[in-house]
Amino acid sequence: MKTIKDIDVKGKKVILRADYNVPTDNGEITDDYRIIQGLPTLEYLIKQDCQVVIISHLGRPEGKPDPQYSLQNVAKHLSSLVKQPVAFVADLEDVDSTSQITLLENLRFWPGEESNDDNFAKQIAGLGDVFVQDGFGVVHRAHASTVAITKFLPAVAGLLLEKEVNTITDSIENPKRPLVAIVGGAKISDKLKVLHSLIPKVDRLIIGGGMANTFLINSPEHDVSTIGKSLHEDNMAREIADIYATIAEKFGVKAEDNPDDYSDSRVRDFIYLPRDDIAVGKDISPDEKAKVIPISVISEDDIVLDFGPESLEGAIKIVQSAETIIWNGPLGMIELPEFAKSSHKLAEAIVESEASSIVGGGDTAGFIQQLGMIDDFSWVSTGGGAALDLMTGEELPGITSLET
Ligand code: 3PG
Repeated sequence: MKTIKDIDVKGKKVILRADYNVPTDNGEITDDYRIIQGLPTLEYLIKQDCQVVIISHLGRPEGKPDPQYSLQNVAKHLSSLVKQPVAFVADLEDVDSTSQITLLENLRFWPGEESNDDNFAKQIAGLGDVFVQDGFGVVHRAHASTVAITKFLPAVAGLLLEKEVNTITDSIENPKRPLVAIVGGAKISDKLKVLHSLIPKVDRLIIGGGMANTFLINSPEHDVSTIGKSLHEDNMAREIADIYATIAEKFGVKAEDNPDDYSDSRVRDFIYLPRDDIAVGKDISPDEKAKVIPISVISEDDIVLDFGPESLEGAIKIVQSAETIIWNGPLGMIELPEFAKSSHKLAEAIVESEASSIVGGGDTAGFIQQLGMIDDFSWVSTGGGAALDLMTGEELPGITSLET
């Protein structure tokens, strides 16, 4: 991947694709991590006397203007960060050279963006001499501003994109071992690919969130007769058996149909699930108090919402033995403070360990941000789906379209 440092950008007109898809509340930016992480590229271009037109999306306005997704406040905020004016323009023909930096209105107000339309891309490309892709969070999408535009301009990576790709790829392909992955999330079905691709590469896998519930009800190893009203998926026995077959293959053990059939403890212990206790509630509500119970006594009206302290202890021991940790998805329901405790303690254990720690995925990154711990991790990715796809070895269209 060529970057802005590999070509001469001095004095050029640059179209900079950023991912300013930041969380907002009533139009106010509530977390500017993505904007901040994109600053080194912008500052580099400013120093090179470039005229920069920044393009980004915000939310999913579905191809038509919608004021709640305007980038106007982002332009204001950006201007305060770079300490110089940022012109905000609602339309392509309003771009002029009176300001060194211009931010165009949300690309997704135009239907051509998501349909990867050549004509729309050509119009944007007409505003510059060079295209710089720095919106790591969006490179898993094939859109006009990630793919089609690269047909019309020399296209290189920005510094954030370069950092993201190098850090995430290295953590998976060349890690210091043991490499431990922590994967959470609601559904196994969403993460099947991720799991199958991580298993050969990692030394241990900790599973949390709703996914852990689905594993638990399919695990003869764990003394669980019901998962109550907890988030889980039915009819996943086949998929889980396939996951164990991938683990068996990793260790050169004969494939079996049931996790319980593996006498080899490396296969049985490779995935760490809550095993002793869990924290349950009766309702998903901010006032709900966590009750810690052994996993063997979950009742029909319980909702499993977090690891219990003993189960967490086991996860922490694994983390403490790791040299590299990749984390995607919390252990419990972090939206409810009572059930964010084990994810919080796990975050503390990760930063206290000497391990290199990479966080990928929107939810987990937002959580770390809320805890004020971003700087304590080796790298917190600005990508959600893009970080996961990169970890999984998927082709990212917004990267493969860049010059090499
Ligand atoms: C993200 O937040 O993951 C990126 O900005 C991409 O947004 P999208 O999922 O709406 O394409």
